[in-house]
Amino acid sequence: MGLTHPRHRRRPQTEGSANPLFGREQRTVARHELPRREMDPDTAYQIVHDELMLDGNARLNLATFVSTWAEPQAERLMAECADKNMIDKDEYPQTAELEVRCTAMLARLWHAPDAHQAVGCSTTGSSEAAMLAGLALKRRWQHARRAAGKSAERPNLVMGVNVQVCWEKFAAYFEVEARYVPMDGDRYHLSAQGAAELCDENTIGVIAVLGSTFDGSYEPVADIAQALDDLQQSSGWDIPLHVDAASGGMIAPFLDPDLPWDFRLPRVASINTSGHKYGLVMPGVGWALWRDAAALPEDLIFHVDYLGGDMPTFALNFSRPGAQVIAQYYNFLRLGFDGYRRVQQTCRDVATRLAGEIAKLGPFELITDGSELPVFAVRLREDIDNFSVFDVSAALREHGWLVPAYTFPANRTDLAALRIVVRNGFGHDLADLLLDDLRRVLPRLQTQQTPHRDADNAGGFAHGAETKNPQQPGRR
Ligand SMILES: Cc1ncc(COP(=O)(O)O)c(C=O)c1O
Repeated sequence: MGLTHPRHRRRPQTEGSANPLFGREQRTVARHELPRREMDPDTAYQIVHDELMLDGNARLNLATFVSTWAEPQAERLMAECADKNMIDKDEYPQTAELEVRCTAMLARLWHAPDAHQAVGCSTTGSSEAAMLAGLALKRRWQHARRAAGKSAERPNLVMGVNVQVCWEKFAAYFEVEARYVPMDGDRYHLSAQGAAELCDENTIGVIAVLGSTFDGSYEPVADIAQALDDLQQSSGWDIPLHVDAASGGMIAPFLDPDLPWDFRLPRVASINTSGHKYGLVMPGVGWALWRDAAALPEDLIFHVDYLGGDMPTFALNFSRPGAQVIAQYYNFLRLGFDGYRRVQQTCRDVATRLAGEIAKLGPFELITDGSELPVFAVRLREDIDNFSVFDVSAALREHGWLVPAYTFPANRTDLAALRIVVRNGFGHDLADLLLDDLRRVLPRLQTQQTPHRDADNAGGFAHGAETKNPQQPGRR
């Protein structure tokens, strides 16, 4: 018979059929147990890829503050650097160098009195930065108390009840009493007087938020700093201020340059921001900066090898991806001050216009209008009792939009709101499409007899604006 001509050989089953890829998929895919055998990488890719189609569309996620769009060049750099571990400073000295340059740029942007004296580091996000900043406050306070021969047993941290959940975590994980200043009437964030009233000799610091996760408003950082200056005059307590500028740290410098919220205020010891929010990097990178070495106790710093020398580090993780830090440097280099200003101004323009249009629809009242963070919260008019903000959120979800609805914390638990976060990549046209859908769903909601949904069955995606956990130890 001789050799079969290649044309007449029987082809493997998958080859040439109409849809070979899906034909290769096994009857059941392992979900909770490691499969016994390997599978073809294309098949595995397709299975995972297809399952993820069930996720929401990130660009329509108006709940998150975190970047959902990046330039292709940034994405390319991130892919090129996916194998770089941030901790390997000796092996990747240029990545380490870019991190140092980013912190120097931020120190200048936030007006450190001497950018060379400021110390800082990248983190996985603002939450890790909050843990580090909180630890520095606690350790400083402990040193001062012990040096004065006083008890360092009962530290507390003062903040508005609107703080992001990371501060509640800090207090719980590191055994610090969380003292929350409640909301009051139309005041939805920390007040200077409220902060000062809760301080005592055991207060390790006060947290001011620029701007609030609940409604995008800036807390009055300068007033809070002044109140703490006055408190020092009257009591002798020298209480440092940390600014959680997770979002505002990359908005205010560009859009509100005359607002003193940063190291221009001598009371501000440290600041954090999320590079992956208005720093415009994909998740996850954050930054923590201290005004000077005195603000960051030396005994919290660890040392790693760097070019045969020594590099100080302050981090919770050991290994961590380097790609996001590189993308942050790319953004700084690519956009510069003016580029960032224009990106953030566009976000603010879209947010304020969208807020104004929503206010005109009738049923809604603005809590904020997007003129601080490009983020705003709306509530329903008080006379509307036949549908809820949770119904609006669910109705918009049917059209693909993720707009969270949630209840405010003490003393405004009566208030439920929707929040829209405008980010780079959500332009006027998408805002108009959202408005169209809102106009489309309202007539149906208005015919309801009673609300269908409340906070308990809202789906719960408030992105950190959750009501504080009353079970947490250390809560007051
Ligand atoms: C004010 C504030 N602080 C901290 C965080 C936590 O930031 P990250 O998600 O970067 O950990 C957020 C997140 O939304 C926030 O809004």
